Amino acid sequence: MTTLRDFLYQTRGSLIDADIPDPRLEAEMILSHELQVARHRLYAFQNDVLTSQQLGNLESIVARRIQREPLAYILGHREFYGVDLQVSSAVMVPRSETELLVERALLVCLERLAKDSLVVVDVGTGSGCIAINLAMHLPMCTVLAVDISAEALDVARVNVQNHHLGERITLMRGDLLENIDGPVDVLVGNLPYIPTGRLDQLSPEVRCEPRSALDGGCEGVDQLIRLLEQAATKLAPRATVLLEIDPGQSPVLEKTAMELFGDAVISIEQDLAGLDRLFVMEVSGNDL
Ligand SMILES: C[S@@+](CC[C@H](N)C(=O)[O-])C[C@H]1O[C@@H](n2cnc3c(N)ncnc32)[C@H](O)[C@@H]1O
Repeated sequence: MTTLRDFLYQTRGSLIDADIPDPRLEAEMILSHELQVARHRLYAFQNDVLTSQQLGNLESIVARRIQREPLAYILGHREFYGVDLQVSSAVMVPRSETELLVERALLVCLERLAKDSLVVVDVGTGSGCIAINLAMHLPMCTVLAVDISAEALDVARVNVQNHHLGERITLMRGDLLENIDGPVDVLVGNLPYIPTGRLDQLSPEVRCEPRSALDGGCEGVDQLIRLLEQAATKLAPRATVLLEIDPGQSPVLEKTAMELFGDAVISIEQDLAGLDRLFVMEVSGNDL
């Protein structure tokens, strides 16, 4: 006989042995997924006994997790900025750091919405996590979501449909902005920014994610620089660009941006850990 409490205790131990961070939280997420009970309600049932079918399902999830497969891929979904999203190994698992980008983009758009209806582009949309949140909170905006990966766009399409945003978000396949005519008012992106040489040192979970979502080239800034170059002819006057970055990449991005957009105002913002995480650029009079 295994109760919910027994399962949580034993699974926490197995996850600790496998060096998995946040073992208690993950054990709860696994159980909550299998029983379809909100995590905070599990404790009301902790003396209930699991059926053999439930136990079998749970054991196979834990076995996969111990092999360091990302939990979001095993469960097939992940919450991001309060929204539940389907994920698969075709997309990067949305990260909490990226919620900062969403929050900042919402602020930029809301400040301008009184006057304008805006065209917002999410480049490298992956699961669609950024585009979906922006479309949900900004009903006056037109949202275009681009990815180079057809498989990632299939996942984004499911999420867009699940959240009834098919009329609000246009999904497009393309290399950065190549298929976007502009003018773009707000350009947001969480593009691959990990230096190639660092990929082998990442955790086993991150190494399960698509390489095309991670690999930013030698210094990690290849896609970001290409994006700024393309943006030079596609941004609307007074456009804002918000890009997630790796700490340490700000000097080269600021230099490139100043060369391309001389009169732009650039700032670098930190995440909750105090690390440089967001490149923010406000363009002034960039008439097309
Ligand atoms: C770091 S992931 C971010 C996914 C999602 N926006 C998020 O925040 O979770 C980067 C995404 O950019 C896409 N990507 C990589 N290179 C690209 C390119 N040249 N043009 C468009 N998308 C690209 C990848 O396929 C991947 O989905």
